[in-house]
Amino acid sequence: MNNVARIDLRQRADYTHKANLKTGRHGWLRLTPAYSVKIVEELIVQCDRPMRIYDPFCGTATTALSAAYHGHEGVTTDINPFLVWLGEAKTAHYSPSVIAATRDACTRVVRMAKLHEVKPRPAPPIHNIERWWAPQALDFLCSLRAAIEATTEPSSQAQTLLLVAFCRTLIALSNAAFNHQSMSFKDDDQLPFDLNLDMGGMYTENVRFVLIGAGDNPDGGTSVILGDARNPVTAVDGKFNRVITSPPYANRMSYIRELRPYMYWLDFLRNGRDAGELDWTAIGGTWGMATSRLNDWQRSDSALENDALAAIVDEVAHADNKNGKLLSTYITKYFDDMWSHFRGLTSVLAPDAEVHYIVGNSTFYKVMLPVEKLYAVMLEQVGFHSVNCRAIRKRNSKKELIEFDVSAVWQG
Ligand SMILES: C[S@@+](CC[C@H](N)C(=O)[O-])C[C@H]1O[C@@H](n2cnc3c(N)ncnc32)[C@H](O)[C@@H]1O
Repeated sequence: MNNVARIDLRQRADYTHKANLKTGRHGWLRLTPAYSVKIVEELIVQCDRPMRIYDPFCGTATTALSAAYHGHEGVTTDINPFLVWLGEAKTAHYSPSVIAATRDACTRVVRMAKLHEVKPRPAPPIHNIERWWAPQALDFLCSLRAAIEATTEPSSQAQTLLLVAFCRTLIALSNAAFNHQSMSFKDDDQLPFDLNLDMGGMYTENVRFVLIGAGDNPDGGTSVILGDARNPVTAVDGKFNRVITSPPYANRMSYIRELRPYMYWLDFLRNGRDAGELDWTAIGGTWGMATSRLNDWQRSDSALENDALAAIVDEVAHADNKNGKLLSTYITKYFDDMWSHFRGLTSVLAPDAEVHYIVGNSTFYKVMLPVEKLYAVMLEQVGFHSVNCRAIRKRNSKKELIEFDVSAVWQG
């Protein structure tokens, strides 16, 4: 089993790279490539005095955590409640006594699960669950999940830490493969399950790994908040000196699709409808029902007006592809949502606040969508100055796909 280290409780830049070497792939919970995490770290190191740093698109909370490790206050929001839970778990302070108690609880949990001393939880209602887990792995996970609940107080730090290790274990035991941008299944998922696999030992090892990260408490404060980046003022208090973020890309990646195994097992999702609803609220999300809803979506009166974008949208709509019209609406909605975000952001910025968006461009049917340039236009339009697009790196073998740091200064 080489499918380890999918979810880090604490990602520090140096540590992240080691975890990457180990997996050789970016896993589901690496929502941005390791390189972007490194850029975030570099931008935070450049902050020469204690600052309030805001990441409107939390993901796995790397910005908030890095800010706190460097002595700043890191505040972050996400629309996905599972990521808020995970971000809180990653950024919380854990005392030595909590860590010791969690280690003890782990021993009890594993014994209970192995000896069937607890009634197993029903398997989560994930579509085609047999593709995900062999029956033996599924039985073990159902018992393990029940044993964690029976052994720890609801929402206690010990329970949170044991559940993070549970997430690592459920993915390590699955047939998920990470050799594409999106999750898929291993080609050899029909191979018989290794009956000698010590699943209890695997879980204990994951708890040990999680507890090492948990004991390394950052100096700065953090807040991880459930909120919509299109209206930051309703989610966060006070003013910020820096925004450092990696927003959703205009590439149709669905975070709900990528995160669904964790979200079902941890009761953040109960059915496909919930998943579609949540995806619809996320910027750039287009999975299942969220895709069909695009057909009926109407622009608001305060939508973004930009001739260059309108020309691109028109070209995509008339591309030689049956989905051209739908994707042109997707692009329009993506920029209308980001436009709401940029306009709302200005209410939570201190004078001279600097913002950085680590974002990639995209192509749709060979039509280039220069996301970075459109961000620059929007930032200028809402009143930022010193707007700059710095190319950081090529994203993959397609030479036109590049990642940028789009930065600007708020005039206040
Ligand atoms: C590219 S990821 C962020 C990755 C993050 N920097 C990391 O290192 O993991 C984008 C995030 O934006 C979140 N998101 C999408 N729409 C949002 C919205 N309207 N408000 C807040 N967060 C949103 C998604 O749930 C996802 O976690």
